[in-house]
Amino acid sequence: MCGIVGYVGPKNAVPVLLEGLARLEYRGYDSAGVAVLNGRGVEARKLAGRVEGLRELLARSPVHGTCGIGHTRWATHGAPNDRNAHPHLDCTGTLALVHNGIIENADVLRARLAQQGHRFATETDTETLAHLIEDSAGATLEERVIAALGHVEGTYGVAVIAEPEPRKIVVARRGSPVLLGVGDGEYLVASDASAVLAHTRSVVYLNDGDVAVVTPAGYRVLDRDAHEQDRAVDDIEWDLEALALGGYAHFMLKEICEQSETVRRTLRGRLLFTEGTARLNGLNLTPDQCARIRRIVVLACGTSWHAGLVGRHVIEELAGIPVSVEYASEFRYRRQLRLPGTLTIAISQSGETADTLEALRAAKAAGSTVVGVVNVVGSTIAREADGGVYLHAGPEIGVASTKAFTSQLVALLLLGLYLGRQRGLPVEQGRRLVEQLAGLPELVARTLELEREVAQLAERYADATNALYLGRGVNFPVALEGALKLKEISYIHAEGYPAAEMKHGPIALIDANMPVVFLAPKDEVYAKVVSNMQEVRARGGRIIAVTSDGNGDLRHLVDHQLRVPASAPLLSPLLTVIPLQLLAYHIAVRRGCDVDRPRNLAKSVTVE
Ligand code: G6P
Repeated sequence: MCGIVGYVGPKNAVPVLLEGLARLEYRGYDSAGVAVLNGRGVEARKLAGRVEGLRELLARSPVHGTCGIGHTRWATHGAPNDRNAHPHLDCTGTLALVHNGIIENADVLRARLAQQGHRFATETDTETLAHLIEDSAGATLEERVIAALGHVEGTYGVAVIAEPEPRKIVVARRGSPVLLGVGDGEYLVASDASAVLAHTRSVVYLNDGDVAVVTPAGYRVLDRDAHEQDRAVDDIEWDLEALALGGYAHFMLKEICEQSETVRRTLRGRLLFTEGTARLNGLNLTPDQCARIRRIVVLACGTSWHAGLVGRHVIEELAGIPVSVEYASEFRYRRQLRLPGTLTIAISQSGETADTLEALRAAKAAGSTVVGVVNVVGSTIAREADGGVYLHAGPEIGVASTKAFTSQLVALLLLGLYLGRQRGLPVEQGRRLVEQLAGLPELVARTLELEREVAQLAERYADATNALYLGRGVNFPVALEGALKLKEISYIHAEGYPAAEMKHGPIALIDANMPVVFLAPKDEVYAKVVSNMQEVRARGGRIIAVTSDGNGDLRHLVDHQLRVPASAPLLSPLLTVIPLQLLAYHIAVRRGCDVDRPRNLAKSVTVE
């Protein structure tokens, strides 16, 4: 949520900033701006709208400088207009900053600063920090930034430049990610690695509370008392190709179509065929700890929460451990029960979602061991968890999550298998599941062959105003996910429901204008789901059924039948979700929606 980038080195910063912002735009795209230093003070350009607009503005009205910062915004305080776009300046116009997060005491600070004579140019919370730094004492910019941050409540990832020290960027983080890109005689700062990859693969992830000072001569990381800290330099494990469209019309489509490969990557090196279990080196759970688990709490938001609901079935089935799945935003404000034997699993594609992170911290504080199921290597959740399972799905750029979801399901299957085998799941059953998991990439590839059929279907339903998604058991969460995908990117209202629960309300909505998507792969509730279809049919609803090979012909009952390959029931969500991702995608495209940048949404929600 909001992208930050900064550059200091021998080159003109502006093209570097623009390139970085274009990479970060998926984090927020309400407005964009840059500011540079070049010995003539701060020069800034900013405007509402996309980075492309900023590029055009800079072509008409260029600025140059070898030190600069840039920002792409997802608005919290103040409308997404030119004025509220970052960077923000102090009264003297000699200091500029960009900020990701929320300054919660901004109103109080603003009132006080205004009383002291500061003039505010914007409605943002961020601007208060520029004025606070202006007033702060200190011999260096970092001293002034540290002093100012002492007055701030809330979250921030912030990058600051100021005229008196024209070859320096000061960054700080609390709650919002910031990393340093370490180049050869040049340094970058960014809110995520994609913005620096064109220049360097070496990054330093800052910890909460860190302040870093970056100049062409190097960088220093300080704690809030200005004591120097050691931070490891990590390697980015993917390359620029992962950030390119590669011939696809949208990142979302690319990421849907990649899923056979991303599922393979999540599985790679983790299947132990003879032992019938999974190798999860990063989990850091001893056999003794596994044996003592009495309950599992899953914390997540959005699509990751849906993955957690599937994970509940998987873990309860394989490991016999009771699992509760919590919205992280709700969990964090509930009374934390100290129950010995609780394992907490935080699921997050980005590893930066503010609610999931805070819920994880609350669980830890209540004595729970926490493991992360995370995609982004080096992200805050990955680092704060006691151990975890990385997805290795590569960067996910499309705001609507797709490949991360299927990889999360794979990771949870591996985790369920591992815990199950530690707790009495017979080796034969383990081996069977390992074989089934090994076959998954192929099944996913075959499921993707449905695309043309789904695209045709999308044509017929592109004008729908509502849709209902129904499933049972392990496919109920897929119904939720299918509905979420459709509403996120096509703006059609959609609801997911347990198929039988439909009778307790949503059935009142069914008429010939209401498409009803059923998840009905071959499993123990298949016959029950078909009965639910009959109930919809009897009321004139239009039915799209996702079934699997080997199931009967439902054409007498449904309007459309999409068949995914047959699979073990626990694996079926990985396949049934794919036609739903494709359906949402093709409907949104037909409706002319901006699939990769749906309105009002952001990829990484780093505010509460
Ligand atoms: C946002 C994204 C969703 C994502 C959710 C949780 O809402 O748009 O796609 O599922 O955040 O994100 P996380 O990174 O924690 O999985």
